[in-house]
Amino acid sequence: MTINRRPIIEINNVNKSFQRKHQKDLLVLEDINISLYEREIVALIGKSGCGKSTLLRTMAGLSSPTSGNILYNGESVFGPVDGLSMVFQEFALLPWLTVLQNVELGLEAKKIPRAERRKRALKAIDVIGLDGFESAYPKELSGGMQQRVGFARALVVEPEILLMDEPFSALDMLTADNLRNDLLDLWNDQKTNIKSIFFVTHNIEEAVLFADRIIVLSINPAQVRAELSVNVPHPRNDQDSKLRKLIDDIYTLMTMMPVGGKTVAGGKYRGINIGYKLPNVNVSEMTGFLETLLEAEKDKVDLPDLAEELHLDVDSLFPITEALEILRFVDVEKGDIQLTKSGKVFINADIQERKKLFSTHLMSYVPLVRHVRRVLDERPGNRAAEDRFLIEIEDYLTESAAEKVLSVAIDWGRYAELFAYDYNTGMLSLENPEG
Ligand SMILES: Nc1ncnc2c1ncn2[C@@H]1O[C@H](COP(=O)(O)OP(=O)(O)O)[C@@H](O)[C@H]1O
Ligand SMILES: [Mg+2]
Repeated sequence: MTINRRPIIEINNVNKSFQRKHQKDLLVLEDINISLYEREIVALIGKSGCGKSTLLRTMAGLSSPTSGNILYNGESVFGPVDGLSMVFQEFALLPWLTVLQNVELGLEAKKIPRAERRKRALKAIDVIGLDGFESAYPKELSGGMQQRVGFARALVVEPEILLMDEPFSALDMLTADNLRNDLLDLWNDQKTNIKSIFFVTHNIEEAVLFADRIIVLSINPAQVRAELSVNVPHPRNDQDSKLRKLIDDIYTLMTMMPVGGKTVAGGKYRGINIGYKLPNVNVSEMTGFLETLLEAEKDKVDLPDLAEELHLDVDSLFPITEALEILRFVDVEKGDIQLTKSGKVFINADIQERKKLFSTHLMSYVPLVRHVRRVLDERPGNRAAEDRFLIEIEDYLTESAAEKVLSVAIDWGRYAELFAYDYNTGMLSLENPEG
């Protein structure tokens, strides 16, 4: 087979920003250039909140770029595109419709005669392995079978391109594996018209097991940080040394400092301000993680191995490593993590010493906590309402993001006994309100 090297989809210099009240626009995608070719499966990987879904929606014509353009078969995309189907993480099935009716729904908008609709829906159901479940209702089906309905609904329009937004992440590991393999069989046997699959995942292993090419996005704003080819034939084994190396490389790329950031020892987070999006991680998650590192009994631990051992995907792992990096209890470099000197002292200490050290590090490295503490120190009565801080943080973040960040800072500060917080009144103080 000759491969047509003209891209089916071309994303050219796409920027996307969202308008915000009282603040400058939030730039989510910056100068994205991606081409999608025939007969390839491409994975898009990036941290949670970096803009993966936004990019997918833009490709599908469900949202327009702020600047730049998207071409589908050489023509500009201005709205929803025929020939392109989406599969979502949440299966989005209508509970009052049967499997068959849910699948037919994909064709409803297309004004196809009823008999033809039925015929095509039955075929899609057959292809994706849902035979015998035509008249079942979604609630009778397992998660894996429900997502098969999601796939059938995408396939029924006989798309050229399948866009998938974390399609396997709501499923348990075995079910996800099973569905992925079935999809791969469909793809290899060319049982559908699909020419190209583009999917979003935060699961690095999934990307290397499934994709021919992997695009790694950075965050704030998302730029294409790297494109990697996976030149390993299927069926792939996740212990394959080429794949392990690739997994390592992707971890390295994803834990690198922001594009343009300077390398300063221990100082990836030196420049953070009170509007920095502190990762939503509680202290026991951090200490649990540090204990695992200590138990590893070697200096440098491979992050992919650790993720596997702890059964954490990157969306759970990276916030923890980031919090610990901000606090200078670990160093992350080239996909390896290691305890810093003070990280070692912290984890070997008793509870009171841990709190003391945590408090010192918070005051040194987390500007928001330092700010709250200073305000409380200066205030007569040593009290302040949380709203006062929220307003300040909202100079940088949306209201809901500001609330999350403040609650993280409060959680960490309370553990360190730097201040107290009364949940009912929203007051911060230096004294324990109950005491
Ligand atoms: N409609 C919208 N309005 C404002 N901000 C949005 C909108 N959609 C997404 N965002 C913001 O864009 C960023 C990227 O979101 P998203 O594409 O959902 O990330 P991902 O899929 O990588 O987790 C987030 O900061 C999110 O809050
Ligand atoms: Mg998303």
